[in-house]
Amino acid sequence: MTHPQSEEFPLRRAVCPGSFDPITNGHLDIIARASRLYDVVHVTVMINKAKQGMFTVDERIALIEEVTAEFGNVQVEAFHGLLVDFCKERDIPAIVKGLRAVSDFDYELQMAQMNNGLSGVETLFIPTSPTYSFLSSSLVKEVAQWGGDISHLVPPTVLDALNRKLGQR
Ligand code: PNS
Repeated sequence: MTHPQSEEFPLRRAVCPGSFDPITNGHLDIIARASRLYDVVHVTVMINKAKQGMFTVDERIALIEEVTAEFGNVQVEAFHGLLVDFCKERDIPAIVKGLRAVSDFDYELQMAQMNNGLSGVETLFIPTSPTYSFLSSSLVKEVAQWGGDISHLVPPTVLDALNRKLGQR
């Protein structure tokens, strides 16, 4: 049930954070499902200056905006700093993450507990669709670099952007 926006029923917000270098169908599945549970979903490209990405932050944002436009309630931006500060500044009480496998769990649990201890923000895990349980941006880039078929793993616009990037090398 959706509530009309009012002081009594404020918008329910959540954030889906990540590196998104680039966004994959696995990310998109989680964002789509979060967008059905919350009024506004903030998709945030967390800037990590120690990590040299394939795509610039602006390119990542443009790709995410394009592939999430159809959901109608997704806001995309970049943030440099602690995720809990992003949440505090925008009054976001929940972080939504996808869990692919047991191997994700240890680190995700640590981050969830740290973030909750720092600010009280809650983390909610959505089990990744089995179709994407092996999927990561790093693997997509590696397979694409060697000419493997990744067309079923990323949206068409991301596939084009990856091919253009690799063609530039
Ligand atoms: O897509 P990724 O690289 O797996 O996402 C990890 C990310 C960006 C969500 C995580 O590293 C993060 O939240 N970074 C922001 C900095 C921060 O708040 N660090 C403390 C985490 S407890």
